[in-house]
Amino acid sequence: MQAIVLVGGEGTRLRPLTYGTPKPMVPIVNVPFLARTIERLYDAGIRDVIFPAGYMPEAIVEYFGDGSRFDMRITYVIEETPLGTAGALKNVAHHITGAFFVLNGDVLTSLDLRAMLAYHRAKGGLGTLHLIEVEDPSAFGCVVHDADGRIASFVETPPRGQEPTNAINAGTYLLEPAVLEAIPAGRNVSIERETFPALLADGRRLYAYTTQDYWIDLGRPEHYLAAHRDVLSGAMPLALEPGLSGAGAAALRGHPGVTLPVHAGEDVRVDASAKIGPNVVLGRGCSIGPRATVRDSVLWERVEVGAEASLDEAIVASGTSIGARAQVGRGSVIGHDVRVPAGAVLEPGSRVGAAGR
Ligand code: GTP
Repeated sequence: MQAIVLVGGEGTRLRPLTYGTPKPMVPIVNVPFLARTIERLYDAGIRDVIFPAGYMPEAIVEYFGDGSRFDMRITYVIEETPLGTAGALKNVAHHITGAFFVLNGDVLTSLDLRAMLAYHRAKGGLGTLHLIEVEDPSAFGCVVHDADGRIASFVETPPRGQEPTNAINAGTYLLEPAVLEAIPAGRNVSIERETFPALLADGRRLYAYTTQDYWIDLGRPEHYLAAHRDVLSGAMPLALEPGLSGAGAAALRGHPGVTLPVHAGEDVRVDASAKIGPNVVLGRGCSIGPRATVRDSVLWERVEVGAEASLDEAIVASGTSIGARAQVGRGSVIGHDVRVPAGAVLEPGSRVGAAGR
């Protein structure tokens, strides 16, 4: 069984983080998200993975190589210009040998891929799409199906209040190779907007596989932080110790300023008078100065937080320093290698960091 993981998007909504790190390599609790996806594929028995890439592919190639470190075979196909979610599949068609999974590279879910495969085989359609029911489907692609699961129509981002269903396309597909024949070559094609509707119009059978799994699209800063809260609380199972976890946890045990849950990477230093947590992830080599406070935030590697600085619901990329007494407004996102000056006050929702990092 093969899987294609779509990893070529620019991740514009996660800028400035994605100026320095392509979205699939953004860490989820200190491990690149794509590595967690690879682990999930491995657990489902998949050993042959194709990455259609295009944006900063070198970061992905450098980490995964040929896949042998993960006991997998990983094939890269680099797009010179973005081909879209279906065009990217067409572009790797020569590597496909049978039915295959397609995963959006930015979906964190507990979906059981083996169960989805069994469902797909039982239904015998041309494709099976994983669906999730959400409270507000207006920002997503809604999928309408009959009682047998056969998909009747797709409605992309319907106006609020006019959604035909709460079931949305959750970004994992299981497709027969014949789907590839329906995708035009050599241009940008969207699978959700173009290919799936065209297959339906042609009378082909696509099935919905609706589950109650944990599911979140990491593509926006607020979702990224929510995913971390959910992993730390155990709502999204990722095999972490409850409460205090990570290679650097020992250094924080018994620390009077720690409010759990907290995850700490190797070599973190937290001053005895600092306050950390709840819902904080510190990457390898982070240091937190005297009387600084960090809550509901994710700090990547080697982030320095100066004395009396404060962060709340912030995401800070690697190598950045937050000066003493700086106040980082709630919901701020700070890119790689930024120097936030001492005493700076960042408005809530600030984005700091430039392209080329
Ligand atoms: P935004 O710019 O913030 O919308 O993010 P994005 O560029 O990643 O787009 P989106 O979230 O819609 O993409 C869904 C998935 O498809 C992600 O895993 C992307 O990496 C991937 N993707 C999107 N466009 C392309 C493309 O043209 N080629 C390839 N290979 N992958 C793509």
